[in-house]
Amino acid sequence: MSEPLRPQAVGTAHERVDGWAKVTGTAPYAYEHPVPEPAYLRPVQSTVARGRVTEVDARAATALDGVLTVLTPFNAPRLRRGYDTELEVLQSDEVWFRGQIVAAVVAETPEVARQAADLVRVTYDVRPHDVTLSADRDDLYKPDVVNPSHPTDTLTGDPDSAFESASRAVEATYTTAMYHNNPLEPHTTVALWHGENGSPALTLYDSTQGVHPLRDAVAAMFELEPERVRVVAPYVGGGFGSKGTPHAHVALAALAAARTEGRAVKFAVTRQQMFSFVGYRTPTIQRVRLAADVDGRLTGISNDIVELTSRYKEFAEQTGIPTRTMYAAAHRRTTHRLAALDVSVPSWMRAPGECPGMFAPEVAMDELAEACGLDPIELRIRNEPSHDPDSGKPHSTRNFVACLTEGARRFGWGSRPRLPRSTLDGDWWVGTGVAGSTYPVMRQPGSAWASVRYRGKGGAGTGRYEVSIGAADLGTGAWTVLTQIASDALDVSPTDVDVRIGDSDLPRAPVAGGSSGTTNWGSAVVAAARQFRDKYGPDPADGDECTAAMPDDGNGKRFAMAAYGAQFAEVRVNVYTGEIRVPRLLGVFAVGRVINPRTARSQLVGGMTMGLSMALHETSVLDERFGFVVNHDFAEYHIATCADVPSVEATWIAEDDPYPNPMGSKGIGEIGIVGTAAAIANAVHHATGVRVRDLPITNDKVF
Ligand code: MOS
Repeated sequence: MSEPLRPQAVGTAHERVDGWAKVTGTAPYAYEHPVPEPAYLRPVQSTVARGRVTEVDARAATALDGVLTVLTPFNAPRLRRGYDTELEVLQSDEVWFRGQIVAAVVAETPEVARQAADLVRVTYDVRPHDVTLSADRDDLYKPDVVNPSHPTDTLTGDPDSAFESASRAVEATYTTAMYHNNPLEPHTTVALWHGENGSPALTLYDSTQGVHPLRDAVAAMFELEPERVRVVAPYVGGGFGSKGTPHAHVALAALAAARTEGRAVKFAVTRQQMFSFVGYRTPTIQRVRLAADVDGRLTGISNDIVELTSRYKEFAEQTGIPTRTMYAAAHRRTTHRLAALDVSVPSWMRAPGECPGMFAPEVAMDELAEACGLDPIELRIRNEPSHDPDSGKPHSTRNFVACLTEGARRFGWGSRPRLPRSTLDGDWWVGTGVAGSTYPVMRQPGSAWASVRYRGKGGAGTGRYEVSIGAADLGTGAWTVLTQIASDALDVSPTDVDVRIGDSDLPRAPVAGGSSGTTNWGSAVVAAARQFRDKYGPDPADGDECTAAMPDDGNGKRFAMAAYGAQFAEVRVNVYTGEIRVPRLLGVFAVGRVINPRTARSQLVGGMTMGLSMALHETSVLDERFGFVVNHDFAEYHIATCADVPSVEATWIAEDDPYPNPMGSKGIGEIGIVGTAAAIANAVHHATGVRVRDLPITNDKVF
């Protein structure tokens, strides 16, 4: 393992280094980078879910003053085919889903672009569509792998026989809804071509979770050397995974800018359009079986999962992962099956896999506790594995039980009535519930590079250290924690360090995804800083510079590494209306060393709030007649507001794990949303005696 970092700035609640720029409005987001005389793009979206575009009549649109061009499948510049079908915008007449981009207007102003787009008449050869997800479909298929490269199915022993012969058993089907990522800042691309003749170059100001992955994808689509594409994204207003992979809007903005003779094209995706083509979380159907002995010791666990994908591109969410890793049991199975429907392709949304995949088994565990007459915390403790049940590797650290017991103490779990439907407070049934959280430590050794440069002003010790890496800060605190890590690795004050991120001209960095940003980027920063010190000593000269990659310490091969947590919920359910309130959420996490309590708490509380929103409020309603998500705005797609979350508390236990990275940290961006919905569903059962297995938990389901 690489030598642990000695924490000085790391571990402190350092204020956000980007905070001042953000609150004063001087931090440029993608749309706000100054470009001379930009043109504005507005897409035209398909009004049918399946078929072919037979004609695009743009005469009325082009007749408007200020319209520069109308792109259609018949006149758009050609892109590379077969690299990423999601990016093949306007490359064929085929309609794969309703809301697909089938034309685009570029105009002098956003208003004219919008008016002109409304005037474009598209004619279709319409074919019948099918957007119905069901476990009974006879065309379900088994994908080769699930996101990103996990085995599709796993099998150990004979879980069906274990179930048939079990003393205590639970079998139930659980469903999670379709959810759409809704970061505060909608997706935006500003594209500008500016190369010399015969050697084109493209600059994108983009709202992205990864400048280098985006650069590589765009370069491939336009058949350019990656160095001819520059992606700039110093500030990003959230993403939750939907900005982690490029979507059609990026390719479209770049295509359009190729038509505007050196003028930049701005494409700000609207909130409504975000429900069509920038990804979402697939709905899931999970059939869970738990088998146990009379003492609640699991003998068998299985989860058979059905979810959807699109017909033009496959995304298979790895929903079975938590079932594979969470509890000990000799006999175990997970399977994933997909229905390819006439819908846009699903993608990453905060803890893809772990988030929906923890709901079903953690509610099932609550049902098993009831069947065994055991406290649900005691049941989980009895099934704690001695090593990772999936890989057989030892855990680097696994403090799940400590999270459960510490959470129980803080939450006041000891005074909880054992039987459901025991507490009536006025017109409200009151109950409490618990569920586990987990998220793997993801690492990509060699993927991240960082450079350190010294800029001396006068004599030794008067200069500043510039630390550069093409990382992305979605609002998570990357600017800040990289400053802390760099200053400790250089053994200087954070005030002597300037971090530069969010530009593909900086050293190569992987996506801000999989809760792995700090691990990957931080490891590279530590490596570069240590080499810098080894090479130049404590008194470097002006311009001294060193670049290094994240080393491979081999720990990923030796250990199963993951973060854990326990979430506790109190709910109140109105006796007359079924209205559900969550007055209290508590999460206790074991996430290695916390680099910055201020930004970490914000990630965990944010994740839990999003989990509450998933449990009670959010659901994308796909109208099967039209193949369309009908509630595509904030008026109808309800996201938890402040009034919905009176008390969300996140805390953590001390955990010393030297194996994930030199900082000793584990990822925290996603674990907060894992298990929250199950804790709330379990609390609803404890309050009312009604077991809700289908999200979201709405009033009608508790009667
Ligand atoms: Mo996260 S869904 O890996 O950005």
